[in-house]
Amino acid sequence: MYKIAVIPGDGVGPEVVNEGIKVLDALVEPYSMDFDFTYYPNGAEHYLKTGETLSREQLDEMEEMSAIYFGAIGDPRVKPGILEKGVLLRIRSHFDQYVNLRPIISFPGLICPLRDKTFEDVQFYVVRENTEDFYVGLGARTDKKKDEHKLRFKKYNIKFDIEIELDDEKEIAYQIGLISREGAERIIRYAFELAKKKNRKKVTSIDKANVMSDIYGLWREVFDEIASEKENSGISTERQFVDNAAMQFVKDPKQYEVIVVPNMFGDILTDLGASIQGSIGIASGGNINPDGISMFEPIHGSAPDIAGKGIANPLGAILAAGMMLEELNECKASNAIQRAIKNVLFEGKVRTPDLGGRASTGGMGDAIIKELMKDDEDRDI
Ligand code: IPM
Ligand code: MG
Repeated sequence: MYKIAVIPGDGVGPEVVNEGIKVLDALVEPYSMDFDFTYYPNGAEHYLKTGETLSREQLDEMEEMSAIYFGAIGDPRVKPGILEKGVLLRIRSHFDQYVNLRPIISFPGLICPLRDKTFEDVQFYVVRENTEDFYVGLGARTDKKKDEHKLRFKKYNIKFDIEIELDDEKEIAYQIGLISREGAERIIRYAFELAKKKNRKKVTSIDKANVMSDIYGLWREVFDEIASEKENSGISTERQFVDNAAMQFVKDPKQYEVIVVPNMFGDILTDLGASIQGSIGIASGGNINPDGISMFEPIHGSAPDIAGKGIANPLGAILAAGMMLEELNECKASNAIQRAIKNVLFEGKVRTPDLGGRASTGGMGDAIIKELMKDDEDRDI
């Protein structure tokens, strides 16, 4: 029995999560699992009604769960940043979900938007560091009161006291990026372990050490140390600067097997990655604490422009449910989801509009369930 916290959230979140839950429910009998879903109302509606983003009690409750299944957050009625920081980033940091694992894996029958490339060229994992870098929330603007320039980073007991002498009419803003040896080490190790688990032979580290040589210099140093450890000798490594990597994503995505990348560049590159998969609608991600509570979500976000129309692609959310099962060690059920999606996409009859078809969100989810029910491993293509 798995207790799952479900946060459908905003925009298309509830529609796609609904399909993911349908798929999980369909797997209960064939894979003898059981789920106890607890729904949380957090998101724009809840915030506008109550002024609350996420409460301490809710976090405490989730502490007792097996995993969190997340839809999307963000709504045009709420100032950008409030819900993102108050709900999504808060959960990531509260549960120390330091791995953001984002498979950039295309499927047969999907059209890779890169000329001359096929789905076979787009088959890699991005391991994004999920707690540090420019996401630590250390920054301020000079129009704020003086004591706001005393910044604190509790985890390492760091205090920055920034002194600013600036003419009144001048204004600046700053943001501090922070990388710890410990933080770099655990994520880079995760990437090497993932490469071994998924039978991949190469790990590429992406940074910008040529300009931000302090934080990414440390990152690189740790990468080189781990790369040279004996147990990683079977894995080849490469280091790239992020601007070059953006070009390589488009020019030659086949060179990647596992990428490990600091938080902010990982955010940017995984949107690029999601689109070369064929559609951001099929991109999924895990916010993983290997020893704690993890959260799984589609990458697409709340997409307010298509919310409520029943046309959002639920495959990202369904694949995220599959990642959740893999993390819960339900590997057979997780593989069955992958296989069903592969087969349905390959057949090409049922597709949502982002994939050039006319299926509804529910129609797409139903097609996956129908395929799952006739699941047999020989159908693996
Ligand atoms: C993502 C999103 C989030 C991020 C936002 C919504 C805070 O873009 O999951 O990639 O920047 O991490
Ligand atoms: Mg993003």
